[in-house]
Formats: sequence, C-alpha cells, structure tokens
Amino acid sequence: MHSLQCALQVQRSLRWGPMASVSWLSLRMCTAHSSLSSTTCPNPERQEDGARKDFSSRLATGPTLQHFLRSASAPQEKLSSEMEDPPPYLMKDELLGSQRKVYLETYGCQMNVNDTEIAWSILQKSGYLRTSNLQEADVILLVTCSIREKAEQTIWNRLHQLKVLKTRRLRSRVPLRIGILGCMAERLKEEILNREKMVDVLAGPDAYRDLPRLLAVAESGQQAANVLLSLDETYADVMPVQTSPSATSAFVSIMRGCDNMCTYCIVPFTRGRERSRPVASILEEVRKLSEQGLKEVTLLGQNVNSFRDNSEIQFNNAASTNLSRGFTTNYKTKQGGLRFAHLLDQVSRVDPEMRIRFTSPHPKDFPDEVLQLIHERENICKQIHLPAQSGSSRVLEAMRRGYSREAYVELVHHIRESIPGVSLSSDFIAGFCGETEEDHVQTVSLLREVQYNMGFLFAYSMRQKTRAYHRLKDDVPEEVKLRRLEELITVFREEATKANQTSVGCTQLVLVEGLSKRSATDLCGRNDGNLKVIFPDAEMEDVNNPGHRVRAQPGDYVLVQITSASSQTLKGHVLCRTTLKDSSAYC
Ligand code: 5AD
Ligand code: SF4
Repeated sequence: MHSLQCALQVQRSLRWGPMASVSWLSLRMCTAHSSLSSTTCPNPERQEDGARKDFSSRLATGPTLQHFLRSASAPQEKLSSEMEDPPPYLMKDELLGSQRKVYLETYGCQMNVNDTEIAWSILQKSGYLRTSNLQEADVILLVTCSIREKAEQTIWNRLHQLKVLKTRRLRSRVPLRIGILGCMAERLKEEILNREKMVDVLAGPDAYRDLPRLLAVAESGQQAANVLLSLDETYADVMPVQTSPSATSAFVSIMRGCDNMCTYCIVPFTRGRERSRPVASILEEVRKLSEQGLKEVTLLGQNVNSFRDNSEIQFNNAASTNLSRGFTTNYKTKQGGLRFAHLLDQVSRVDPEMRIRFTSPHPKDFPDEVLQLIHERENICKQIHLPAQSGSSRVLEAMRRGYSREAYVELVHHIRESIPGVSLSSDFIAGFCGETEEDHVQTVSLLREVQYNMGFLFAYSMRQKTRAYHRLKDDVPEEVKLRRLEELITVFREEATKANQTSVGCTQLVLVEGLSKRSATDLCGRNDGNLKVIFPDAEMEDVNNPGHRVRAQPGDYVLVQITSASSQTLKGHVLCRTTLKDSSAYC
C-alpha cells in the first residue's frame, strides 16, 4: 500500500445537480521516512537518491490547497517552462524535460489524437524530445479512452506489457516513467494507481498543462495525479503539433466536453462541461494550417454544432437558440455567444482551397442557417454525421436523446432537401437497456429508410456513473447484443452499398492522400462525402497548366470518374488535376 501523504480532493460545483461530476486533484507519494519498502517504491535507484530526500523535504513545506486550486483554475497560465515562479516545492529546472524522450500512444477517438498533439506541444515546450521507438523512451504516455469496456480492457492489457519493460529497466537502472492520460485517468482516478503500481502519472483531459510538473514529481519517485476537470480549459493557446509531416488534413479542436447527458454516455463525466474555444484562436490555427499547405480541416468536438463562444462580452446578446424542429435539450436553454454558423462561415473563408468538415455534431443543433451555409459554400463538405443511436422512439426516450424517431426522420428529409447530394453517416448502439426485439426491428428499418453512406455501430456497454447505470437495467444478454449488432452491420452494408453505387458513372473531386495501402500502383484519397476513393496512379492533364502531364501528389485535388462502389470504398480512374474552386464546373 502507498502512504497517502498529501491527497487533496477538490469538489467543484458543476451545476449538474445530483449527477455532478466530482473533480479531483491528488498527489500521491511514497516518502523517504515511510515504512514502505520496495513494493511500493520499487525503484532501487529512487530510494537511495539524495535529490529525492531533498525533494521530499521541500514537498513537506510545499504546496497548499490554495496552490492546487490556483493552478487548476487558471487555464491560460503560461507553460511550466516559461513560468517565472515554479511551484514552491519544485526548482524551475525540475520542470524541464532535459531532453528526456517521450513515447506517446493514442487510443480511442479523434479527440484523443488531438489531445495527444496538445500534450506533446506542452511537453516539447518543456524540453522533452519525442521518440517513436518504445525501447528508447524515458517516459511512456498512453492517451486513453473509456467509452466502452473493451476500450479500457485494451489499456489494461497494454499496461501489463509495459510492466515487463519497466521491470527490465529497473534491473538495468535506467528509469522508465509511465503515465495514463485522458478519459481513463479521469474515470478511474486512484483505482489505476492502486491496481497498477507501475503507473507514475495520471492526467485527466483538462490537466495536460500540468504534465511537466506531474512528470517532475514522478522523476523524484512519487506517483502524481491531476484529474481536475475545468469549466473553461480549451487549450486555446496551445498550438497542437501535427505528427505526420506529409498529412494533407488536420483536426482542429473547437470545443470540449458535453452537457447532453445521454444516459449511456460516460463522456460528460470524463471530459466535463461543454465549453467552446474562442473563434479568434480557432481562426488563427486554421490560418497557420493553410499557410503550411494543408488542404482539409475537420472541426472537432463532442458537440461541434452546439458551439458557443461567450469569451467576449459583446458576443453575449440575447439571441435565442434555434433547435432542430421536434428536438429538446436535457439542460436549460443557453443564450447568446457566437454560434456554429458564424464559426463555419469564418473558417470556410480562410482558404477557398481548404476543405472544411466537422465532427461530431448532435442532431438537435442544425438550424437552417447552418444547412444553408453548407449548401452554398463550395469548400464546406456536403457531409453530415447525424448520430441516431436507435430507430425506436421508446429507446431514444430511455437514452434521453431529446428526439423521437419521427423528428429525426423529418430532420433527415429537411437536410436532404436543403443540401442535395448530401452524404449522411450515423452512430447506432445495439442492445441498450430494455431494448426489445421490436425496438431492434425499428432500428433496422431506420437504417433501411435513411440509407446512410457511412455508419459506426456498437454493442451497448454499461458504464458506471452514467444515468443508465443508476436507473436502468443492462438486461439484454451479451449474445443478443452481438446478434443484433451483426444484423445492423449487415443491413447498414447493404444500404450503404446501394447509396454509394449511385456515384458510379459520376465524376468526383478527390483530395489525394497518398499510396493505397493495398496496392503500390494505386493512389487513395477522399471524396467530398469523406468516402475513400482508390484509383490507379497514372499520368493526367493539369487543368491549371494545359499541355502538362502530371502525376497526382498528396494534397492535390483530382477529378476521378467512379467505376465501382462498395459499402466503404469507391474505385475509379483519374481524369485530371484541378483545384477545388474550378472543380464545380466538372461535377
Ligand atoms: N456503449 C456503446 N456505445 C456507446 N457510445 C457511447 N457510449 C456508449 C456505450 N456506453 C457510442 C455512441 C456514440 C459513439 C461515439 O459511441 O454511438 O455516438
Ligand atoms: Fe455522449 Fe451524448 Fe454527449 Fe455524444 S452527445 S458525447 S453520446 S452525452
């Protein structure tokens, strides 16, 4: 057992009533004078370390509750390396990475990919180096996901593998620190430190600015954790470091957290309250990406179209919120602020050659002005993710989604009328609490009725803390969930194949990504609807340079004539290289 010398739990009122998420910040340590032996502080090199004793004595006279509160609630504070005053218990140079090598591994959704870039940006500024070689890492950080049980199990398995590596390092006396970042750190908090003694650092999704301090604490032999959720952290001033230099597209985080409280979902508990990043900082990032030559930006967040920038007082007029017809919210209607339509308009004006996408939206926030803008603006992709979750109004009610099947279908029709040719995708959960065979049939029929181009289908996984965990029964047997999931996948594929086959014979604008994974003679790119398009790497005409024959490069726009379609991919042959602006003349 670890002695808990300094453990602070800070509960902040998150205005969520009885389901309020508890925010924590704790610092756990083994001290020099503790009776604990190598089982709790297993690193022999740690125990002999004079520097650590020095550290421990500084720690004893060190941080106060006020200090943790202050640092946790000041989202725009400078990075550790730039701080004039380090925390009282750490020397300034202890916050520096001193060229130590960090290996980052990402699990879960695109938000986590973005979080990895943010965490890395913070560590890089603090003097760490990045490595893609696990064996040479001084620090291994896993950016984790909690959305389903399986996602967490993958991390536990990975931790068992890393334990072997760490033990080997102990013998060779080259220390290795391991950190758990993101949703799993937030959901399980101390449980991770208790279950896996080899984990040194825990950082929740709003605590990445604290990573240099947490790693400094870990370096001196302590376990360190910051899982405090914030009401305003958006990392607005942290420019994520793009990891792939040849990338043609980037994700730009525009908001964090979620206020919807769908009954199955752990996200509001792991990522906290909804908050939007100021428009100005989003535009600055998009401009930089455009200058770097990137051709596609996806605006990212848990509920992107609920975006609301309240950062400036003058934005806070009393304009009311226009929800989609037949939709309600689980929270008190919000007012004012710069909304998603404004942001989308501004972002799409930065570079007419840059494609704009967004994910993931909630169906409740699709006012006409957003649909109109998508229809009119050439570089906003005609692609909408519209997570339905179920086709049964009864199940939707139990999920507290705020709409019925009928309202959802009406919205689909309205979107298709407003944006002809729009590509639709969705998320579905099979086997939610109380789902009957009749409910399942309703979901199958919704898949048939809407005929989505893309789909993400999951078996329900009960998560502790959620409303479903407290109020509902996970009563659909596992094998029934899996059977229903299989049926949904089959129907989705049949319908998507039909939907995608309507493209055969058409000419589509494709943004080239690079070589196809399956064949060295084929290239791969994405059409406006975000479907993968494969075509032979052949010479073609360059529309902007008549008489010139060129080969497509990553980041080029090309016109491809579609010759075949499956549920996930289109195939075709390339006609010419073009630009986004010129392409409409051909399509
Ligand atoms: N079980 C299964 N799927 C879930 N999702 C969210 N929570 C759960 C859960 N507990 C799915 C939803 C959501 C997507 C990101 O993950 O479909 O839209
Ligand atoms: Fe989860 Fe619902 Fe929020 Fe999506 S909208 S993150 S499903 S609570």
